[in-house]
Amino acid sequence: MGHVLQLKNVSKTFGEVAALHHVNFEVGANEIVGLLGDNGAGKSTLVKIITGYHHPDVGGELYWRGNRIDRLTVAKARDLGIEVVYQERALADKQTLWRNIFMGRELSNRFGALDVNAMRRETKKLMRTVMGFTSAAVTSESVVKTFSGGERQGVAITRALYFEAELVILDEPTMGLSLSETKKCLDFVTGIKKAGKAAIFIDHNIFHVYPVVDRIVVLDRGTVAGQFMKNELTLQELTERLYLVAQTGHLEKAK
Ligand SMILES: Nc1ncnc2c1ncn2[C@@H]1O[C@H](COP(=O)(O)OP(=O)(O)O)[C@@H](O)[C@H]1O
Ligand SMILES: [Mg+2]
Repeated sequence: MGHVLQLKNVSKTFGEVAALHHVNFEVGANEIVGLLGDNGAGKSTLVKIITGYHHPDVGGELYWRGNRIDRLTVAKARDLGIEVVYQERALADKQTLWRNIFMGRELSNRFGALDVNAMRRETKKLMRTVMGFTSAAVTSESVVKTFSGGERQGVAITRALYFEAELVILDEPTMGLSLSETKKCLDFVTGIKKAGKAAIFIDHNIFHVYPVVDRIVVLDRGTVAGQFMKNELTLQELTERLYLVAQTGHLEKAK
């Protein structure tokens, strides 16, 4: 299985603060990677490097499908198919569902005018196939303001998938969601896997991360404390190891 993304020896310092320190990190094709770590571990900084928002310090290398990317920009990352779904993602509250799906990337007809019918039609299709919106109260004309947190996440993830994201990054998507909304959000992550795409799933709660990922990477104060395939560890073992990380900075017991 080839990698979609590889970071080699990536460091990022902000003045005195080493947010990331010699990080090696990769995401396989159609792999869902869980990224765990306490506040300040460097998770969001890593995301910002992958999305071209920050550039790594000299010596860090970034590869997309095996090709070295010299200087990744936000536009370039998007071109490659790297899409972030932020927890606080700003949907346009007063706009309809279909407008939110196509915001900034509207479909137009061959005369260059907005193709409203096509956007409505596509939205209805996405609702059935991807979003799995079952509530009869939700239609393509519904105003997003009335949506639950989970439904809003669904809109954001659907948007990413529709626009051919190859790698979807979710930075703490379940924060502030209710139990049932969280379930829905986790279903969407599973949907990314089914769609044949890759994802990086960041969440504080290992009970959210564990069921939906293939591999787990633990960051601790800017370094990779350890990583393992999910099927190498039970949830119980993972929980115990994470306590160890908090104490020692390493995933493994000292031998
Ligand atoms: N733009 C910035 N300027 C200065 N320090 C930053 C900046 N972004 C992040 N940091 C620092 O880098 C460290 C890692 O932050 P962050 O990547 O947001 O961690 P996480 O997402 O794991 O909570 C923290 O100490 C944070 O204060
Ligand atoms: Mg963060």
